[in-house]
Amino acid sequence: MKCIKCKGKAQIKLPQHNSRFCKTHFIEYFHNQVSKAIKNYRMLNKDDKVLVAVSGGKDSLVLWEVLNQLGYCPDGFYIDLGIDDYSRQSENTCRSFAQQRGLDLHTVSIPELMGGLGIKEISRKTRRNPCSVCGLIKRYYFNHYALNKKYNVIATGHNLDDEAATLMSNLTRWQTGYLSRQSPVLPKNHPAMVKKVKPLHRLTEKETGSYAVINRIPYIYEECPLAEGARSILYKKTLNYLEFYSPGTKRQFYLDFLKKGKYNFKDSEQANLTSCNTCGQPTTLETCAFCHLIERLEVKKQVLS
Ligand code: AMP
Ligand code: FES
Ligand code: ZN
Ligand code: ZN
Repeated sequence: MKCIKCKGKAQIKLPQHNSRFCKTHFIEYFHNQVSKAIKNYRMLNKDDKVLVAVSGGKDSLVLWEVLNQLGYCPDGFYIDLGIDDYSRQSENTCRSFAQQRGLDLHTVSIPELMGGLGIKEISRKTRRNPCSVCGLIKRYYFNHYALNKKYNVIATGHNLDDEAATLMSNLTRWQTGYLSRQSPVLPKNHPAMVKKVKPLHRLTEKETGSYAVINRIPYIYEECPLAEGARSILYKKTLNYLEFYSPGTKRQFYLDFLKKGKYNFKDSEQANLTSCNTCGQPTTLETCAFCHLIERLEVKKQVLS
């Protein structure tokens, strides 16, 4: 098997592109895909203050590495979700990654901010699905922290598999508002909103995994223990099944949605964006979903310094 660029020994096969690459040309391909995403969606400028949300998993650490290699000077941001050993190991992985490269890692701890409660306890107390409260809390703190510390862009490690699974979920339920908003870039639509970008949206989970291995990036392999049985896993499996028999399907499904499909859906909610009457963050309600959660938990929200 030969690299399509240099005819040297190929190490990585990408059936969806009908391509094979040696290590050097795979890295070049990977960086080109990230640069293309950034350029197509005007995600970042070299003088932006960028915060990369890192979970300790392969995607977000690879993203931090690539943005750093491409000269964007990003800082990292880790949220301790208080999920026992899983959270401790994830934080240590992020810390040693940052330390080895001389990068800055910022952290917040949910149990510290929420009277000792982690995601599992919050989910139990509010009788809500753990992934849904976790998503709500993460989105709130990404925005809140970046805004307070004057970052103007937040980058997350969502890859093509994540985005294709979200698309399938939105389509099966015909969530037209979500479909119109699903995008690799969420602009600053409100004074208290920080722009969000997904520079890995053109790359699959397999590709980010290969990049991590080739570049010796240690990451946490375990999936979150609370995500077991999550519907997103089912959608990913379904898409992988299709991809196995028809390589390129996943990529076409998602990237063609962005090109052709998305514009058929209308966003009625975005027009009604106002400020939460309790915390000032953007919301379509009088009080945002995060403040409602805090009320139900009866914990006093700590102010971030
Ligand atoms: P997930 O919602 O777990 O699929 O993760 C999607 C993206 O959110 C990751 O690629 C990270 O960029 C970010 N993320 C997930 N968990 C954390 C965390 N605990 N702290 C900071 N960022 C996170
Ligand atoms: Fe959020 Fe597991 S990481 S529920
Ligand atoms: Zn090559
Ligand atoms: Zn609020």
